[in-house]
Amino acid sequence: MIELSRETAGPPAELIFGDWYPALRSKELRAGKMSRALLLGVPLVLGRKKDGRIFAMRDLCPHRGIPLSAGWFDGETVQCKYHGWRFEPCSGQCKEIPSLTNHDVLEPGKIFAGAYPCEERDGYAWVYVPEPGTGRIGDKLPPVPELPKFSERYRSAHLVADLPCNVDHGIIGLMDPAHGPFVHQAWWWRSKASIHEKTKQFEPIPQGFRMSPHAPSSNSAPYKLLGKPVTTIDFVLPNRRYETIRAGNRWFTSLTTVTPVTASTCRIDVLAAWNIAYWVPFVTSIATFFGARFVRQDQQTMIEQAEGLRFNPALMLIDDADQPAKWYFSLKQARLKGTGEHPLSGPVTLHWRS
Ligand code: FES
Ligand SMILES: [Fe+2]
Repeated sequence: MIELSRETAGPPAELIFGDWYPALRSKELRAGKMSRALLLGVPLVLGRKKDGRIFAMRDLCPHRGIPLSAGWFDGETVQCKYHGWRFEPCSGQCKEIPSLTNHDVLEPGKIFAGAYPCEERDGYAWVYVPEPGTGRIGDKLPPVPELPKFSERYRSAHLVADLPCNVDHGIIGLMDPAHGPFVHQAWWWRSKASIHEKTKQFEPIPQGFRMSPHAPSSNSAPYKLLGKPVTTIDFVLPNRRYETIRAGNRWFTSLTTVTPVTASTCRIDVLAAWNIAYWVPFVTSIATFFGARFVRQDQQTMIEQAEGLRFNPALMLIDDADQPAKWYFSLKQARLKGTGEHPLSGPVTLHWRS
């Protein structure tokens, strides 16, 4: 991963709290070990209890604010380094305050450190990040995002890249169809010479929009492996792009998320699964290689873009290629303001060259 300094980060974005975000790979979490992560500017300490359950606490002691990750975790409780308060990490409930005597009336059990809902899916620890200042988190949470799979046996791969720009730039870069021939030029993918006009159907879905089923770009060689596939691409708030390619009983799916690390930096995670030739051991490494190269090209471009964004330039979104980006901004504003409005009232056809 690339270290991102504050000077290279562009302007901040508004953040969508009250949803699930991937914090880190869950296999990093082992009993007795604490891992740190930053999500939406919230410092987290994550770990796995002896019974296998994973947890995510706000990495700040409610007593005097030292990171809890500086202390100790025995697989059952997290103990603060400063005055030794102990917390049950899934609930955040304080279990012990060592300085208390019989003369004290304070009940440790009434004190809670911040603890967030945390679930394992597809090898990621997903954390529900509530609105700052929210007290108790209700039980009615949205479902934890999951990569769709269409058979029992499959292979999967994942990759991650830090981006020095805010989440909005990460997301619109992800859905931007016009950068492909320039950023992702490669003999096995496509070249500038192959640019041609595209016509795509979009339709509204809850919290997002769908690029309706179509045969993938005829100029994309890897898709030729699949026969006659049908592809669906969904974007769903706050940050998810689901791609599903199916051809008979063969399938490939991916879930790409762009997660705000802070208000001005983000991280892209790509998770993919497929049952095509899943018995061939090389497929995982080949797919990871191609996917990693693809993401590195986006990452490198966004690092360069961030150099420009530091100067806060005025920006443009043009028709039709930037229309998905416009929909994203409208959906996001509707969500932040709670208006329930949707920018698409029905199917829309877009045209662009890429
Ligand atoms: S700061 Fe954590 S116990 Fe005092
Ligand atoms: Fe890209």
